[in-house]
Amino acid sequence: MAKSSQASWGGRFTAGPADLMLRFSESVSFDCRLAPFDIAGSKAHSAMLAHAGLLTAKERDAIHAGLDAILAEIEAGKFRWDVKLEDVHMNIERALTKRVPAAAKLHTARSRNDQVATDMRLFFKHACAVLRDRLLAAERALLAVAQASRDVLIPGYTHLQRAQPVQFAHHLFAWLEMLDRDRARFAEVAAHANWCPLGAGAIAGTTLPIDREFTAKALGFVDAKGRPQVTQNSMDTVADRDLFIEFAAACALFGVHLSRIAEDLILWMSAEFKFIDLSDAFCTGSSLMPQKKNPDSCELLRGKSARLQGNLHTLLTLVKGLPLTYNRDLQEDKPPVFDSFDQSVLCADVLAGTLAGLTVNRDRCAAAVADPALLATDLADYLVLKGVPFREAHHAVGAVVRLAENNAVQLDHLPTEEVQKIHPAFGADWVGVFDLNRALAKRAGTGMPGPAQVARQFARWEKQLGAKARN
Ligand code: ARG
Repeated sequence: MAKSSQASWGGRFTAGPADLMLRFSESVSFDCRLAPFDIAGSKAHSAMLAHAGLLTAKERDAIHAGLDAILAEIEAGKFRWDVKLEDVHMNIERALTKRVPAAAKLHTARSRNDQVATDMRLFFKHACAVLRDRLLAAERALLAVAQASRDVLIPGYTHLQRAQPVQFAHHLFAWLEMLDRDRARFAEVAAHANWCPLGAGAIAGTTLPIDREFTAKALGFVDAKGRPQVTQNSMDTVADRDLFIEFAAACALFGVHLSRIAEDLILWMSAEFKFIDLSDAFCTGSSLMPQKKNPDSCELLRGKSARLQGNLHTLLTLVKGLPLTYNRDLQEDKPPVFDSFDQSVLCADVLAGTLAGLTVNRDRCAAAVADPALLATDLADYLVLKGVPFREAHHAVGAVVRLAENNAVQLDHLPTEEVQKIHPAFGADWVGVFDLNRALAKRAGTGMPGPAQVARQFARWEKQLGAKARN
């Protein structure tokens, strides 16, 4: 049923929206979380209006005091949000107008289009800082696992088949590289967010003498030297949703990394590997099978990555094909962003918690890495150093492996004469290749899993993730 319009845009309307339309179009149920940013934006905007002579200092101060009181009410959970007022912006403006007559001037030279763009840019800066903190904590938990298992070796896998021996810490440091790139990506998204939209108006700015740089400065949209950064095209400012997509993409990629880490952990905890165990605190049992201990936190980390990808896809599809500039479709941009943020924070915390309870089964790791076949490539390198071309060496070692398989003996148990029949370059010292520690020590180049390199990586991560490492 139509009611007379109480909305701020109601002037040209004789009837208000249907109840169904109100329910359909309201966003306050989810954008109310933007309140602190919306209020910060309104305080900066009103300060600028006073600076430009469009408000008196008294009006500005009254507006600021009113906004502060509203924020306190919201934080105390006492504010009454009204869906009839559509969104966070109108709810706050209406509440302010009830307290402060000057609030009727607050929307001077501003539209909800540049207002919501500003709120979201402030949100992204905040969200990226939170995520960077949580990622740092997860990275530190990972480093602690590496520190507690410095001397452990495991097979590295390709195609999920045993490939070559590595230090356990080298595998963990691969994850650390992934997570550290994620943390850097959130810093980049925050840098992209750091441009102030206010002043773009609905689409074409304003005829009033505003000072965009003043507002930008007041809100902290400044470069490293403190110079204000304002968006450069009013139409792009209200139409652009790149940041939403970049943020969701950074979350989705973080999710992919989490999923791969989780998958490794799940495999390692299985009876087939048994390289690790996870604490009861992050596992669950089966209601039917009493013996079960399931790595649910890891499975959920893997599962959440689907959701993070879905949110990215929602945003890409939402924006694709929209004519410039603002369209109401864009109101749908917030739920996927908020969900990606909330879930990514949870995931980072759960990863840190799961890692904190990880224990390494040294015997199982030692047994697995003792497989001499892991050093078949080293045997080919041995021939290369004797002048054999690598392709020929690879072929010869392949024949040695086949012979061991046919005779059902370990590679390093074959008689030297048999091996020499396959290739004359095999010397009496050929079994020396299977000394695991020597084999690892030879992997001494940058980025390799030898002990000297891994020690360097320990030093690097300890420095980089140290208590003061807030880069
Ligand atoms: N709630 C709206 C949104 O999030 C605010 C912008 C509304 N602008 C408009 N022209 N109706 O998109």
